[in-house]
Amino acid sequence: MAVLEWIETLHRDTVLDKQGYMELIADCSEEEAKTLFEKACAVKEQYYQKEVYVRGLIEFSNYCRNNCYYCGIRSQNRCVERYRLSPSEILSCVEEGYALGFRTFVLQSGEDCGYSAQEIGHLVSDIKKRHSDCAVTLSVGERERDIYQYWFECGADRYLLRHETATKEHYEMLHPKELSFENRIRCLYDLKEIGYQVGAGFMVGSPYQTTEHLANDILFLKALEPHMIGIGPFIAQKDSPFADMPNGTLNQTLLMLGILRLSFPKVLLPATTALGTIDPRGREYGILAGANVVMPNLSPVGVREKYQLYDNKICTGEESAQCKHCLSNRMESIGHHIVISRGDYFDRQKRQIDK
Ligand code: SAM
Ligand code: FES
Repeated sequence: MAVLEWIETLHRDTVLDKQGYMELIADCSEEEAKTLFEKACAVKEQYYQKEVYVRGLIEFSNYCRNNCYYCGIRSQNRCVERYRLSPSEILSCVEEGYALGFRTFVLQSGEDCGYSAQEIGHLVSDIKKRHSDCAVTLSVGERERDIYQYWFECGADRYLLRHETATKEHYEMLHPKELSFENRIRCLYDLKEIGYQVGAGFMVGSPYQTTEHLANDILFLKALEPHMIGIGPFIAQKDSPFADMPNGTLNQTLLMLGILRLSFPKVLLPATTALGTIDPRGREYGILAGANVVMPNLSPVGVREKYQLYDNKICTGEESAQCKHCLSNRMESIGHHIVISRGDYFDRQKRQIDK
């Protein structure tokens, strides 16, 4: 089939077979991508109009027990100055964010054993007690199911854990042997069963990635049915084993965003900081390709430079208010607007449940 026919089919059926996805990814021209993006935006607007949800990202620790080859804060990177925010510092970020209109807070870190499960649980319940109108998202890596369950009971609403790649052989090229593909996938299904709104995802253009891997990623996501899908370009980090690998590109990331929107009409899809890093208007283009979420940084300015997953990360010098303001202007410049809202998955929004 020709690319435009694949786009039509995807728009109608919200799924293609593996061959269809592979041909679409490999052969889509810039002109055809424009058609894809138009359809993706129309689908997005059916559910979310031109509203863009914001999540306040608090990168609360860069300690990590893992050694993912692509990642700037991996345990074996001796060039990183490690930090860990205290609960009261994290709560100050939340208060600042609340005053700025954030109603979702994403607590993200490496897999830091310095924070116990109880401490994280208490933090979540503290935030929920102070602000019952807010959602808390955790993104702290792979844990046992009973810990995920406990945090859910403490009030955590959502969990972000990118699957990174749905192809086992590829997974093993990106991670040391201590990390297991099966465990990553097990975590995602556990989180879903417990009741979290779950986010999976992958890097676009990660080392050794093929078109077939990308097609496998979409088919894996189809089976998992996550509420959020986080994708961004791979960006090399100078002290990592992948320092000399080529970065993912803007165009390929946009293409994947458009394909994901047509495949998952209601999904929460961020235009990520990594996309804004490879192109100054990357996040705007991401929204115009079908994304509907942005995640400005609420971490204290003093630690932002230290959470360098990849080189040249943007927004490390700005105060939280500046970041929010800047993103708000960027969204307005493309006819979209940021809203004060928890920004739940469409089917979990109150207006839906009330019906
Ligand atoms: N430790 C948690 C986890 O594993 O989910 C959260 C932190 S982890 C650093 C967040 C995400 O950053 C990873 O899932 C990965 O996809 C992304 N990331 C890491 N290194 C990157 C790089 N060099 N370029 C782009 N994204 C990267
Ligand atoms: Fe730990 Fe990436 S290696 S967050």
